[in-house]
Amino acid sequence: MLYIGIDLGTSAAKLLMMDESGQILNIVSREYPLEFPHPGWSQQRPEDWLDAVMDGIPALLEGFDRSQVAGIGVGGQMHGLVVLDAEDNVIRPAILWNDGRTAKEVDYLNNIVGKDRLSQYTANIAFAGFTAPKLLWMKANEPENLAKIRKIMLPKDYINYKLSGVHCTDVSDASGMLLFDVEHKCWSKEMLDICGVDESQMAQIFESYEPVGTLLPEMAKKLGLPETVVIAAGAGDNAAAAVGTGTVGDGACNLSLGTSGTLFISSERFGVDPQNALHSFAHADGHYHLMACMLSAASCNKWLMEDIFRTGDYNAEQAPITRDRLGNNHVFFLPYLMGERSPINDTNARGTFLGMTMDTRRADLTQAVLEGVAFAIRDSLEVAKKLGIHIERSKICGGGAKSPLWREIFANVLNIRLDIPETEQGPGMGGAMLAMVACGAYSSVEEVCARLVHVVDTVEPDPELAARYEARYQQFRKIYPACKSLFSELA
Ligand code: XUL
Repeated sequence: MLYIGIDLGTSAAKLLMMDESGQILNIVSREYPLEFPHPGWSQQRPEDWLDAVMDGIPALLEGFDRSQVAGIGVGGQMHGLVVLDAEDNVIRPAILWNDGRTAKEVDYLNNIVGKDRLSQYTANIAFAGFTAPKLLWMKANEPENLAKIRKIMLPKDYINYKLSGVHCTDVSDASGMLLFDVEHKCWSKEMLDICGVDESQMAQIFESYEPVGTLLPEMAKKLGLPETVVIAAGAGDNAAAAVGTGTVGDGACNLSLGTSGTLFISSERFGVDPQNALHSFAHADGHYHLMACMLSAASCNKWLMEDIFRTGDYNAEQAPITRDRLGNNHVFFLPYLMGERSPINDTNARGTFLGMTMDTRRADLTQAVLEGVAFAIRDSLEVAKKLGIHIERSKICGGGAKSPLWREIFANVLNIRLDIPETEQGPGMGGAMLAMVACGAYSSVEEVCARLVHVVDTVEPDPELAARYEARYQQFRKIYPACKSLFSELA
């Protein structure tokens, strides 16, 4: 049988088709626009996501026997607020995970409602990208839109709703709404009250590997697929990527280098970081995880390459960065192009180059960006270390993981082994694997991971280079505290 996995990302929907043996048979991608209507705001049209999926699936299936398709699973960008009216029309563009407009609402939630209460209700505190503060923002700024809301959903759940007709979500994605009691896996009545939401507006909750239904007849017809195709609940893209890289069970780690950068630590038990710097979310394998998320990771490099250097040839830009230059760059870069979430939670933070001289060249800036992203992830790794979590190795996935140079920088800045899975298509692969479990092809997420995920290479840190990067990191970590008050003054 065949399974479709969809990575509903921020720049594009990436669709892949797999058989039960884990062989990826085809991949297609459909891009869509991202709007920044004000500095720090970030929105997308849910209708564009749906068009990308409806156009992408037939292209994915070209030349294959459509009657063999058994299931679809989506791993979607998390936290985005999608709101539908009584006629199921989208009321306004989705406010995305990297949108920083809710500083006031975050402040209200964290300081007036209070972090302790939020953490007690949801296992998390408020961050600008989370869903609940966006509802409070609508209340203050768009009351006429708020009054129209009948259904509240997350990006991938909009796709699942359109495909299956079921208003559903899964535990991993629901965890990022700040409306969900992560430990008990149900909506938090207290948080719904605080945000003025009625439970009837919220989706039915599923484990990520459960089927929510099958394709609606009109959708099956449009796609040329059987009506028996099962729609899996799917997962937030990070939990899906963790499945796709086999990051399940206790203490496994995945580093995802997409538009965002995340450090994902799976756990068999529910646990909360007492400082709430790491998110405490449900995992797609039925258990839990801790996660740190930086808002701009591979997107910093994309910004430098495409918007500033006006090139698409990333390899050519990285070629002059030879091994002897690693750990010896005088330029630093703070990767806060969209403000930052983990671990500093500062919507005012901004991207910053520091330490340039007359002999600074293009390649030094490229290197500073690659290193700055790695140093910022190291900040979150330090938080995990302080919690007593010992990470010796991690999987790595996402577009940024394709660069051997960046992988080497990461292995040495973090001073851990990086295991490279066969494919860097984490969320799409995870989505397809969740669909396999939903269809009964495998009995559990653990089983499908054990059978289908293969590590093909490992990047080992080099003690001498790791020591050079350690010294550089100790300098890097002083920069943000020195700039913090200036960032807020400039905001
Ligand atoms: C995770 C997060 C991002 C998005 C990116 O908390 O906000 O990783 O899911 O798609």
